[in-house]
Amino acid sequence: MQQMRKKFAPIALITVLLLSVLAGCNSSSQTEAAKEEEPRPILVQGPMPIEAENFADKLEDVSKEKSGTFDFYIGTVNDYPVIVSQTGKGMENTAAATAVAIEKYDPIAIINQGTSGGHDPDLHVFDIVIGKRSTNIGSLKTPHKKDGEGIHPKEWIPMDLMASEGSAGEDPDAENIRYYKGDEQLLKAANAVKDTHEKGKVVEGTIGSADVWNNEVDRIQWFHEKYGTSVEEMETAAGAQIAKAYDVPFLGIRILSNNKTNGGEYNPDTAAANQAYVYEVVKQYISMIEDK
Ligand code: 5AD
Repeated sequence: MQQMRKKFAPIALITVLLLSVLAGCNSSSQTEAAKEEEPRPILVQGPMPIEAENFADKLEDVSKEKSGTFDFYIGTVNDYPVIVSQTGKGMENTAAATAVAIEKYDPIAIINQGTSGGHDPDLHVFDIVIGKRSTNIGSLKTPHKKDGEGIHPKEWIPMDLMASEGSAGEDPDAENIRYYKGDEQLLKAANAVKDTHEKGKVVEGTIGSADVWNNEVDRIQWFHEKYGTSVEEMETAAGAQIAKAYDVPFLGIRILSNNKTNGGEYNPDTAAANQAYVYEVVKQYISMIEDK
């Protein structure tokens, strides 16, 4: 008996191992299948309540979740899952809300949208810029000046924090403008529904972001010339940087609510008009995903 037990013990062990491997395969293929059935949501971000709530109201079957100060409205558009994220204002809120959303909801694509201030005098309040690229216009290094030599904002140097793992202050390779490209498919969707926005024009351009509101027209012009910025705001480049870290397609879409370069007065109604346009972009993107 003792001997028989000894003889069969390894066989029993192997059988148990094999069964558990098979069970493992089976359950992982089941989760794969479940993943295939459940489409990944599109994430639409807006900083302020007026930049998120209109879109959230357009969702069907909505439920609300919260992580920290970040609100997520989880619903559908044309039966496709869409999540509206109210990020709060600024670069830090946006970066954190983007990382949380990616980790929690695994979005297929991210659109960051809201208001902005014009840097291009040809753009007017209610015009929309779709972000062919975005850049952090707060990431800067000053020139070396001694005590009493003053401050010289026009000499500030762009600083690319993604250039290397070394010191950004010392590394000459970091003295470049870092641009984040808008995703091609999302750009295609945004261009395809341009005509639905009737209150202004829709153009491709460069979105500059920083936790700064520039009111000095000379400084705005400096960014416009040096960085090619069409508009400024406080979120897009932060979302783009984190989306890139996770390789998630990303696009910024910004309406002008003000433009210092041509006297365009601030108009908060622009926030709702942008969400109406972005809603059309999302529907277009869904139809493109479903046609694939
Ligand atoms: N400069 C900076 N941010 C602006 N915003 C609108 N216009 C401007 C501007 N001229 C947006 C920001 C932020 C809020 C203060 O308004 O993106 O969310």
